[in-house]
Amino acid sequence: MTITTKRLSLQTMSTEIVVSGIRSTGHLHLGNYFGAIQNYLKMQDTYNCYFFVADYHALTTHPDPKLLRENVFRVLAENIASGLDPEKVALYAQSDVPEIPELYLMLNMLAYKGELEKVPTFKDKVRQQPENVNAGLLTYPVLMAADILIHKGAKVPVGKDQEQHLEMARNFAARFNKRYGEDFFPEPQVFRFSQDAMKIMSLDGNGKMSKSENVNATIYLSDSDDVIRKKIMKAKTDGGPTEPNSEMPDYISNLFVLLNAMSATETSQSYRDAFNNCNIRYGDMKKQLAEDMVAFVSPIREKAFELQQDHDMLRKILKAGAEKARASASETIEGARKLIGINYY
Ligand code: ADP
Ligand code: TRP
Repeated sequence: MTITTKRLSLQTMSTEIVVSGIRSTGHLHLGNYFGAIQNYLKMQDTYNCYFFVADYHALTTHPDPKLLRENVFRVLAENIASGLDPEKVALYAQSDVPEIPELYLMLNMLAYKGELEKVPTFKDKVRQQPENVNAGLLTYPVLMAADILIHKGAKVPVGKDQEQHLEMARNFAARFNKRYGEDFFPEPQVFRFSQDAMKIMSLDGNGKMSKSENVNATIYLSDSDDVIRKKIMKAKTDGGPTEPNSEMPDYISNLFVLLNAMSATETSQSYRDAFNNCNIRYGDMKKQLAEDMVAFVSPIREKAFELQQDHDMLRKILKAGAEKARASASETIEGARKLIGINYY
């Protein structure tokens, strides 16, 4: 029985390489879950996957060392609690793979100041932290390209906000190939199971759910049942539509996105019908959403909490993941060094 299952999984396994990372900057939230982790879970059975905690990227905002460490363990635990299986994928910390900063250094020579300054996420950060516009922020997309190209990653499951970074990774890969050797790196593409990128807005209608902003209007995987209920009940709504089949405002359609993801199809359809018929009661809808969300989040929260009590086990997972990642990374870096001409012995 086991043998048959193994054979089957080998037959259906794709050789395409998948890479993605999540920064260790705080507690994971529903945006991370639906924008990234949900795709990871679907990919882990069929692709050769490398998933990591982007702790070097987190340094761009100067985190407290104690908090950084805690966040790395938490992000790891929350990924596993969400269903990621460290036996099936390489799950590691970015800083455990020294080949990544080496490739980052090489790619930095192919990245130009002008193009880096134009990146919208860089401009946002300059606005948010004018006192700390460090070179790491400017070269953030180069490090991200190194994360992906170090494994010759072809598919990258990320949310919509990362598309520009991926375009830059493709440019750096193409530049390297042109300069040093055709087809050494693939040009990585964004990967999603559904056409529409899932973007989860903040419940107050201001921007997206995020690890460090809009915290009172973001549902975290670590939120208690009561906190989830309170946040949902406070979500922005209005007096309801006055014309049948009206267009939904963003903040209402965000509630429907969540309802679709968490609740039974008939439930979300009945509220959609009520919206279209102008007799929707947002209070009832939010109560339903809150209960379905509690049922969704609480098992993940409890499992993650349990995992975080066992740092030894998490460390073992990190070590095993780093070994898998370094096996692939060292092969790439050796090839890159040769192509560049750094091979003297
Ligand atoms: P954050 O912005 O909360 O710090 P990260 O930048 O570490 O999160 O993002 C990790 C992954 O989660 C990325 O693939 C990103 O696109 C996705 N993601 C983050 N926030 C959202 C959101 N609100 N909706 C959809 N996807 C998101
Ligand atoms: N920049 C990504 C984010 O903020 C995180 C990340 C770092 C990443 N390296 C990556 C995502 C490589 C995909 C692949 O969400």
